[in-house]
Amino acid sequence: MEDTKINSNKKRLVIGMSGASGAILGIEILEILREHSEWETHLVISKGSEETIAEETNYKLEDVMELADKAYSIKDIGASIASGTFKTEGMIIVPCSMKTVAGIACGYSDNLLLRAADVIIKEKRKLVLVARECPLSTIHLRNMLSLSELGVIIMPPMVSYYNKPVDINDLNNHIIGKILDRFGIEVSGFNRWGESDV
Ligand SMILES: Cc1cc2nc3c(=O)[nH]c(=O)nc-3n(C[C@H](O)[C@H](O)[C@H](O)COP(=O)(O)O)c2cc1C
Repeated sequence: MEDTKINSNKKRLVIGMSGASGAILGIEILEILREHSEWETHLVISKGSEETIAEETNYKLEDVMELADKAYSIKDIGASIASGTFKTEGMIIVPCSMKTVAGIACGYSDNLLLRAADVIIKEKRKLVLVARECPLSTIHLRNMLSLSELGVIIMPPMVSYYNKPVDINDLNNHIIGKILDRFGIEVSGFNRWGESDV
């Protein structure tokens, strides 16, 4: 990615993708954010996510990286997003594996995704984890509780039925709408309860 795409006047959002099921959610969020020119995306993809992107989607890794304004290697521990001095509005990890949840909960920052999340917490910025596993063990739940107590937003990609989804796109769009709502980003087709006739 070219650094010329980076614009200090834009609002910056760090997007992390780790190896939980649901790679398409991260990809669709990146696609939506491309339509919101006031936002600049900074993407880091874990090795686990490389595998789920290949298993679950028809996207090539390079195509996913190309969706971001700037994409980083998971090994690039000295990248801008590894420092609190680099201003961002926050970070979404979507999807977020239980391994990544555990790493963040313990402050074990041995890759750029974990370090970037650690920075968001220490700078008291907004961190949203689209944490996915089923069923959840007591270890998973304890880690998520300790993060929630720090103000981290835990948003498992749970399906909603009240909006009457007809297909998986409706299910995805609803959770994506809820995730991006945390940053005040509107998603077309996201039906709010009481505001639509579904
Ligand atoms: C197809 C596939 C689906 C997976 N789904 C999940 C999942 O939903 N949740 C999870 O915590 N781990 C899942 N895993 C396992 C993680 O990818 C694995 O624990 C990995 O080490 C996570 O590393 P990362 O957090 O650095 O990406 C999955 C792995 C594969 C190959």
